[in-house]
Amino acid sequence: MEAPEPWQRPEAWPLPIVTERLVLRAPTHEDAPAIYSAVEANRQNLSKWMPWARSENFSVGQAHYTIERFIRDLNAHPPANMPIFICDRTTGAYQGGTGLHDFHADTQQAETGYWITQDRRGQGVCTEAVVALTRVALRPQSQGGLGLRRIEIRCSADNVASARVAHKAGYQLEGRLRAHRWIDGLGWSDTLIYATTADTWTTP
Ligand SMILES: CC(C)(COP(=O)(O)OP(=O)(O)OC[C@H]1O[C@@H](n2cnc3c(N)ncnc32)[C@H](O)[C@@H]1OP(=O)(O)O)[C@@H](O)C(=O)NCCC(=O)NCCS
Repeated sequence: MEAPEPWQRPEAWPLPIVTERLVLRAPTHEDAPAIYSAVEANRQNLSKWMPWARSENFSVGQAHYTIERFIRDLNAHPPANMPIFICDRTTGAYQGGTGLHDFHADTQQAETGYWITQDRRGQGVCTEAVVALTRVALRPQSQGGLGLRRIEIRCSADNVASARVAHKAGYQLEGRLRAHRWIDGLGWSDTLIYATTADTWTTP
């Protein structure tokens, strides 16, 4: 088997990604008030699963700081993180975040994560976003995609909604890290590792 072509940073990220109900796009500083409001309104339910929610975006100014970090991440070479905002296609309203983090250009793989504002949960929004992102991320670079080979989703085994999203988006359960993370109110929780690959993923 031939060694893979080295991964090339695209001149521009393949964003926005438009789906039936959503636009997945790069963050801008104009988003700061919306990010602050969304995180503040969801802080309690996010903090259990996403440690950053306990320490970030406590003001519009801090949201600017987060966005600046995101923009630097997007411009970094090689990239380590590709943050994406999930917005309503019709109204443009901010509905959550996703992206690719732990981006390894050398092995052409990354991890995705996600959150959705509580008022839009249970409507398939996250699954729609993850499917669209996965499609673009695994598409060869010669066809305008990101050319990744493998994407992982890691979530607490107690986070039933997150595991359900991974399953519905066509990721397979590959492993379980026992007593891997602390969840307030639950104790030590197993981490589930879901993954999909360019060779095996089919649109759900
Ligand atoms: C996880 C999260 C992003 C899902 O967003 P969403 O837009 O509601 O996801 P979807 O509607 O696409 O799918 C959610 C699925 O989980 C199911 N679900 C949600 N809560 C559940 C629960 N407590 N028990 C069982 N299933 C549950 C829903 O019924 C749905 O499955 P279905 O379509 O088969 O009915 C959202 O719950 C969230 O933001 N949670 C807080 C942050 C977080 O945990 N992020 C992931 C960190 S790894």
